[in-house]
Amino acid sequence: MTEEFDLLEPADDPGDEWEELDVSDTEADRIARRQDREFSEFRKRLKDADQFKLDGSVFDDATLAAIYKLVQDGYITAFGGPVSTGKEANVFEAFGEDESQEVAVKIYRINSSNFTQMREYLEGDPRFEGIASDKKATVLAWTRKEFANLRRAYDAGVRVPEPIAVQRNALVMELVGHADDRARRLSEVTVENPETAFEVVREYMRRLYRVGLIHGDLSEYNLIVHDGELVVIDLGQAVTVHHPNARTFLERDCRNVAAFFSRQGLEVSADDLAAAVTEPEPEPGGNSDEE
Ligand SMILES: Nc1ncnc2c1ncn2[C@@H]1O[C@H](COP(=O)(O)OP(=O)(O)O)[C@@H](O)[C@H]1O
Ligand SMILES: [Mg+2]
Repeated sequence: MTEEFDLLEPADDPGDEWEELDVSDTEADRIARRQDREFSEFRKRLKDADQFKLDGSVFDDATLAAIYKLVQDGYITAFGGPVSTGKEANVFEAFGEDESQEVAVKIYRINSSNFTQMREYLEGDPRFEGIASDKKATVLAWTRKEFANLRRAYDAGVRVPEPIAVQRNALVMELVGHADDRARRLSEVTVENPETAFEVVREYMRRLYRVGLIHGDLSEYNLIVHDGELVVIDLGQAVTVHHPNARTFLERDCRNVAAFFSRQGLEVSADDLAAAVTEPEPEPGGNSDEE
């Protein structure tokens, strides 16, 4: 039944070693409360910056303090422009430790309209037992969850943006592509070799599943492409295989992916994809043409 997990080291047994996510008072909250001169100046600069004019106005002081802390800790050295303004989060480009490292900063808005929906993904996830149900705790847990999911996926060999730092509701990760040469969504590009692209996505779904994760919102909109690489993004909602709705989420992911690649002319089915994703790993040394 769960034999696919037998291959994992005991220390890597999904469901046991999930880090507990701490959403108690953060350093950023303390900075926001203190309102010392340095933070006040930073806040003013950020709010006046062109690229924050529109989006920055929706950030509360504690969010600005989270950004301030990330800057102080050296994870962000300069802000670039906005990459995306989604329903729950804004994504910005920035320089990381220095100008040679470009990062993406994803900032979840606390007054997210979809926070009831967030609860549905969080409840049933062993990592989030006992987390308060107010908006702030929910969004903070969500941000931490995305960070933890990215780390886990990255370690499992799934091509995701490398997670760098998390602070309150702000997440710093590798920028895929460059400010002047943006990564594009799979939905926006002409897929030259759909067969290979499908195999890569299927393998990433398999690897995720093997470390106990289901993406939960996988489609051509959360797969980005740059330099011939396919990158899985947006892992905030990804749940562990223990989640009561895990199977439903997996089936939906498979339907989305199969539908996209069917439109690219491949003969693929959601059921076959789900079977491949959940199939136990072949014996080491065995070949893969048994399918
Ligand atoms: N690490 C990244 N590198 C490059 N672009 C990114 C990165 N993360 C997000 N984006 C861009 O921002 C958009 C929104 O990010 P996503 O994580 O999907 O958030 P949302 O919840 O708003 O869908 C993506 O479609 C992509 O264009
Ligand atoms: Mg997305």
